[in-house]
Amino acid sequence: MHFLSVEDFSKAQIEEIFDIADDLKKNKAPISLKQGSIAVLLFEKPSTRTRISFEVAMAQLGGHYIYVDPRTTQLSRGENWADTAKVLSSYVDFIIARLYSHKDLNEMAKNSSVPVINALTEDEHPTQALADLYTIREKKGKLKGLKIAMFGDTANNTFNSLMIACTMMGMEVALIGPKGYLPSTRFVAKAKEYGIVKVYDDIEEGVEGADVIYTDTFVSMGEEHDSELRKKLFMPYQVNGTVLKMASPRAIVMHPLPAHRGEEITGEVLDGKQSVAFDQAKLKLLIEKAIILYIAGKEI
Ligand code: CP
Repeated sequence: MHFLSVEDFSKAQIEEIFDIADDLKKNKAPISLKQGSIAVLLFEKPSTRTRISFEVAMAQLGGHYIYVDPRTTQLSRGENWADTAKVLSSYVDFIIARLYSHKDLNEMAKNSSVPVINALTEDEHPTQALADLYTIREKKGKLKGLKIAMFGDTANNTFNSLMIACTMMGMEVALIGPKGYLPSTRFVAKAKEYGIVKVYDDIEEGVEGADVIYTDTFVSMGEEHDSELRKKLFMPYQVNGTVLKMASPRAIVMHPLPAHRGEEITGEVLDGKQSVAFDQAKLKLLIEKAIILYIAGKEI
């Protein structure tokens, strides 16, 4: 079983993963990892949270990890993704990959004899989405019936996965960004199959009734060439004190990090009492352990 897209798991499967995470918190392990299991982490892009939390997850579950920068492998000399996946999967038990192209990830999965986990591509960031949902459930006690307001660059990989995951779990999604700038139609259409997604350029209208305010960088990895233009475009959608005044005082503020204080969010809000951004980062470790155990359980 691979985890390439958030849709690879059903609502019931996501709930099972959350149950595993709940058990892990109580030091109970419903499923154990085969002793000596090894994951290769193949990362084309930088990472602090996802890389290190997956490494720690494997170690704490009794397994091992090998971090590989693809530039140091024969991929850099033209070996293709299919052959790389065939070879790596003959050595290890999991491939955890952060790649630029989602097509390359699919190619690896097609040719891998072991589970492939998406640690972020240009299209999706599904492990982040599950960590985010679990954080919301921790803070609000439920998911169904809540409203999440997503601010800024609503077409990025994190938002693509999160909007689908939220609607799958019965949440309403408000995408709030500049007029004329459209979130990814493919992902919006998918999310609408599960629930309510509305697009707003008016902040006050979009944030009304929101239980969760979510933002992310204005310039995702690989978009640096457009950085000045994007910052100008999205700046009116910064999550700041004015936005918080329009929202419910009970709304939580989320950010997957790394944050750019003074751009998509002010330091005052990120470090303020409504922010749960650092809990989100912490819970990545727990949810990644649960994902590994869930997938390992399906492989037996
Ligand atoms: N949120 C997230 O994916 O962080 P990293 O890029 O540090 O892994």
